[in-house]
Amino acid sequence: MGRITAETISELQSRLDAAAVVGDYVKLEKKSGRWWGRCPFHSEKTPSFTVDPERKTYYCFGCHEGGGIINFVMEMDKLSFPEAVELLANRFGVPVTREDSGYGAYPGGASGELEKKKSDLAGLYGRVAGSFSYVLTETSEGAGALRYVRDRGISDGMIRRFRLGYAPADPFWLHQFLLGKGYSPTFLAESGLFTKPNPRRAFFSGRLIFPIADRQGRITAFGGRILVGDGPKYLNSAESLLYKKRETLFAMDLAMNEIRNTKEALIAEGYMDVIALHEAGVCNAVAPLGTAFTTEQARLLGRWADRIRLLFDGDAAGRTAAAKAVLACRAASVHAVVILPERGAAELKDPADILKERGAGYLKNFTEHDIIDFEYLLAENAPGNSDSAGKAKAVASLFPFFDLVDSEVEREGYFRRTAEVFGISAQSVLNDYKVWREGGHGLQGSIGAPSRRSISMNDELYLMTAVAVNCGINSSLFARLRSAIPIEEFEDPYARELYVTLEECGRADNMNFEALMNGIETGELKQFVTEKAATREFSEKPEFIVADSVKKLKAEHLMRKRNEIVVKMRSAKNDGLSTEDLIHEKMFIDTELQSLKGVNK
Ligand code: UTP
Ligand code: MN
Repeated sequence: MGRITAETISELQSRLDAAAVVGDYVKLEKKSGRWWGRCPFHSEKTPSFTVDPERKTYYCFGCHEGGGIINFVMEMDKLSFPEAVELLANRFGVPVTREDSGYGAYPGGASGELEKKKSDLAGLYGRVAGSFSYVLTETSEGAGALRYVRDRGISDGMIRRFRLGYAPADPFWLHQFLLGKGYSPTFLAESGLFTKPNPRRAFFSGRLIFPIADRQGRITAFGGRILVGDGPKYLNSAESLLYKKRETLFAMDLAMNEIRNTKEALIAEGYMDVIALHEAGVCNAVAPLGTAFTTEQARLLGRWADRIRLLFDGDAAGRTAAAKAVLACRAASVHAVVILPERGAAELKDPADILKERGAGYLKNFTEHDIIDFEYLLAENAPGNSDSAGKAKAVASLFPFFDLVDSEVEREGYFRRTAEVFGISAQSVLNDYKVWREGGHGLQGSIGAPSRRSISMNDELYLMTAVAVNCGINSSLFARLRSAIPIEEFEDPYARELYVTLEECGRADNMNFEALMNGIETGELKQFVTEKAATREFSEKPEFIVADSVKKLKAEHLMRKRNEIVVKMRSAKNDGLSTEDLIHEKMFIDTELQSLKGVNK
């Protein structure tokens, strides 16, 4: 199947009704030319989510999520770009045409290139997962691994659902096999499936394989558990084009529907735990991948879940991890509850153990008992009968949590509860907390609060932003800019990225806001531009803004050149060299500067 043509996309873009599409997911109300609703990407009580029907974009002033309507549908329905286009095209009666060749299913310029690379890679990973799964379930080589999985209480249904596999013990088998399927050695060498020192040696061999998928179920990485011999218990794929650890959750593709239905997500510690939980019918279980549960992951889940259930191992490491995860959730404005580990049953360390020893029904029941995040921290920190200094220290360990509580009323409740548990006054809790804050502790990113954009406005970015936010409405803006200022004259990296991306949209004959957003690779920049588009700062008479800024930038550029020449002239004079050429150049620049000023009036 060829890639969807740019014409289809721009036709769809012009026909689709933004408010109608978004209205299917969010209750919208019209106020002063745009639609408002409660943001589906973060939880909020007052609407800060907007839809711009003209520009066909959405933007949330609260969480800064934003983009085109195709992107919105991709996010909401976990669809790939072509799937979202198909869906919308169908709805608005736009015929979908595809190009004859190529199998990158994404439109537009550099993003097309990148997306093709990504989809090639995902294709390879999918194929490899298929082979590993075949080896596990159908061959004698996988028999030992299969017995191991079944022994741990995992059914064949779950083995299929999780696409578990076995990587053959011979580390050179995979390379041989894939060459036989027509993959090129160079592509394989860069695939992340082979070791750096020897690109023919498989990274995973003789291991039980856990495929890691993105939200659409495309396999993007693997985890592999050792079964016999020495080595780390688990190996995990390195990060790649497709795979970002901090943003990925194991089994997110499988848990997504249940998370949406229950509005809850359960976080477990490891691969086997998640599979055990799904086996027990707890299908909203996911796990971070060998790292701590991050605020990014909590934010992602917070789009669909009102509450996160934390189920960590009962050991000391698990309890510390749970306390940290509570903070990661709060930093993402999501409340958490903690499922308490089995008491006095040292051998039942984690869900996988519970499944094996007690069975699915017991495990499911076990996950239903929990305490709210703050009570968990209190219980973890409450001193038995320690002295006043011990109390002060224990209370202080709650301060990072207080810091992340969004509501003043809620925080006051926690002060009181702390006072009650520790047998002190709420006032002294508050006082100590204040002192701690004034001592420079608290928020400011220490616990990984979501980083807001770090882009600051300058003349170059101002100009490029004006062109960018209006590129779908007035595509001649970029044409004019382009003939006035070549990219070499831009210094700001963000302005340059916008320039390059616009250039690519233009070349692909696909100059619209949606395509531009798909082309921008830097997350902060995307956010920055969507925000500016939403505030309409650049909507009034963009031709004038652009013309003015072009003039200003040209003048600045000429002034810089002029200064350089003056410096050169000085040193030439010192060295006794001729300055004639330089003088001419300077005169030329002065005339240009003069004429710029003339037009200005
Ligand atoms: P655990 O050691 O608790 O593993 O690590 P587990 O999931 O209980 O594994 P089983 O039950 O012994 O098979 C929890 C998670 O930490 C990561 C893995 O993601 C694992 O699932 N981990 C652990 C690694 O990445 N590397 C390791 O060497 C160990
Ligand atoms: Mn474990």
